[in-house]
Amino acid sequence: MFIDSFKVESPNVCYTDNEIHSVYRYETTELVHEARNGTYQWIVKPKTVKYEFRTQTQVPKLGVMLVGWGGNNGSTLTGGVIANREGISWATKDKVQRANYFGSLTQASSIRVGSFNGEEIYAPFKSLLPMVNPDEIVFGGWDISDFNLADAMTRARVFDIDLQKQLRPYMESMVPLPGIFNPDFIAANQGARANNVIKGTKKEQVEQVIKDIREFKEKNQVDRVVVLWTANTERYSSVTVGINDTMENLLASLEKDEAEISPSTMYAIACVMENIPFINGSPQNTFVPGLIDMAIRKNSLIGGDDFKSGQTKMKSVLVDFLVGAGIKPTSIVSYNHLGNNDGMNLSAPQTFRSKEISKSNVVDDMVSSNGILYEPGEHPDHVVVIKYVPYVGDSKRAMDEYVSEIFMGGKNTIVLHNTCEDSLLAAPIILDLVLLAELSTRIQFKAETEGKFHSFHPVATILSYLSKAPLVPPGTPVVNALAKQRAMLENIMRACVGLAPENNMILEYK
Ligand SMILES: NC(=O)c1ccc[n+]([C@@H]2O[C@H](COP(=O)([O-])OP(=O)(O)OC[C@H]3O[C@@H](n4cnc5c(N)ncnc54)[C@H](O)[C@@H]3O)[C@@H](O)[C@H]2O)c1
Repeated sequence: MFIDSFKVESPNVCYTDNEIHSVYRYETTELVHEARNGTYQWIVKPKTVKYEFRTQTQVPKLGVMLVGWGGNNGSTLTGGVIANREGISWATKDKVQRANYFGSLTQASSIRVGSFNGEEIYAPFKSLLPMVNPDEIVFGGWDISDFNLADAMTRARVFDIDLQKQLRPYMESMVPLPGIFNPDFIAANQGARANNVIKGTKKEQVEQVIKDIREFKEKNQVDRVVVLWTANTERYSSVTVGINDTMENLLASLEKDEAEISPSTMYAIACVMENIPFINGSPQNTFVPGLIDMAIRKNSLIGGDDFKSGQTKMKSVLVDFLVGAGIKPTSIVSYNHLGNNDGMNLSAPQTFRSKEISKSNVVDDMVSSNGILYEPGEHPDHVVVIKYVPYVGDSKRAMDEYVSEIFMGGKNTIVLHNTCEDSLLAAPIILDLVLLAELSTRIQFKAETEGKFHSFHPVATILSYLSKAPLVPPGTPVVNALAKQRAMLENIMRACVGLAPENNMILEYK
C-alpha cells in the first residue's frame, strides 16, 4: 500500500513550529587489531553513539542558477519543470504524455515505512523531510552562447515537437547571462558558440559572477540560491604548489590572472565567497585543493563530480551485484557514442581524458571489498571509449561487456546495450542534487561527545548517489556502489525523524 505522508511519534522526536528535533542511536563498530595469547587478532566491538539532529522545516523559495543553462541538460531541466508546473501534456506517436518527474530519486521514488495488517506500506521519498517543491524553483544562469532557452531547447533536439511548441512561450524570455569563457579549457570546436562572454581579468570575471548571483536573488526575491555546473566538460587543470594548492595561493593567483585557473573553478570561487552551494556536474577537477581548502574554511557547501546518469550508474549496480555474489569481474569494457554538443566537446583528447578519469574509479571500492576474489592491488581490466556520432544526437548509446570468472574456472559474459537519452536522464539528477543540497543546509547535528550542533561537512558526501566520482572530505572513504549510496542518504534522512535505518530483516513476518 502507498501512503502520501506520515508523522513519527516517538519520545525521540519532537516537532516544533520550525524544526524537527530527533535523538538517534547510531549503531556502529570499533575495530582493534591486538595481540591476544601471542597472536594478532581482529576484535570487533559493537558501539552505540547518541546523535541529535535538528532540521529546519521552513522550506525556502529556491533559486537555481545553472552554468551552461542553454545546454541540453539546462534547457531540458528548465522545460521539464515548467511542463510539470503548468500541467502540460502533449501528443506523441504512441499516446498523450503527461509531464512527470520520473528519474528523480526525491520526486519519483519511494521508501518503506513499515507494515500494517500484514501489508508493506510505502511512502514518497520526499515525504521523509520537508523539501522544496521543484515546480516552485526559479531558474537562471549563465551560458557562453546567447540562445534564449526556447531556442536552446530546439537546438538540443530532446523534447517532442508538440511539447516544444507548448513550452516555447514560457522559455523565450529566459536568456542566459554572459559566461566566463576560456578556450584553453574546452574543445576548440566550442569556440563557434561563444558569443556571450564576460570580459575583463579573472578577478573581474569572478566579481561579475558574484554580482549576477546577488542581482538574481534580489530580482526574483528568492531566499536561497544553489549554483550547479552543467556546462561543457573542461580539461583537467594542473595542480601546482603555490598556484592552486591552498586558499591563499588560489586567491593570489586569481589576483594575478594566473592562466591555470579554469572557468569552473572561478564560478566555484564566487559561490564559496558568497556562501552559495556549488555543485559540479562534469568530470573535471574544478575542486582543486585550494578551492576545497576555501570551502572548508568558509563552511560553504561544494559537491560533485559528474552526474551519475547512465552507463556508470549501471556499472555501480552490476559490479556491486557480481562482487557481492562472489563472482569475479575480470574485464569491463565500456563503449559510448553520442551526437550532442557534449559528445562534440568530448571528441578532443584533453576533455575526453577528464571523462575517462571520472569513469575509471567507479568499481574500486567494490573490488577492494572482496579479498577472496582479488589479490591486494589486483583490478579488473577496465577500458572506456567515447566516440562522437552526430546522427544519434542526445540518444547516447552505451555498450558494455563484463567478463567474470565463476565457479571452477568458468567464464560468464554479460553484454549490455543502453540507449541513455542523455539529458532526460541527467535533468532529474540535477533536480535531486539541488534539492538535496538545499535540504542538507537545513540540517544540523551533533554527536554526544560534541558540545555544539554543526552542519554536515561542507564537502557534501550526501550527494554521492548522484555523482559518478563522488567528492568526499579528505580521509573519507569513497562509496560508489549505488545501493549503499542510496541507503546512506535515506538512512540519514530517516535519522532526522528518529527512524532506524531500513535493515530489510522483516523479522515481523518470520
Ligand atoms: N547524461 C548526461 O547528460 C551527463 C552525464 C554526466 C555528465 N554530464 C556533463 O554535463 C555537462 C553538460 O552536458 P550537456 O549535454 O548539457 O552539454 P551541452 O554542451 O549541451 O551544454 C553545455 C552548455 O555549457 C555552455 N558553456 C560551456 N562553457 C561554459 C562556461 N564556461 N560558462 C557558461 N556556459 C558554458 C555551452 O555553451 C553549452 O550550452 C557536460 O560536461 C557533460 O559531460 C552529462
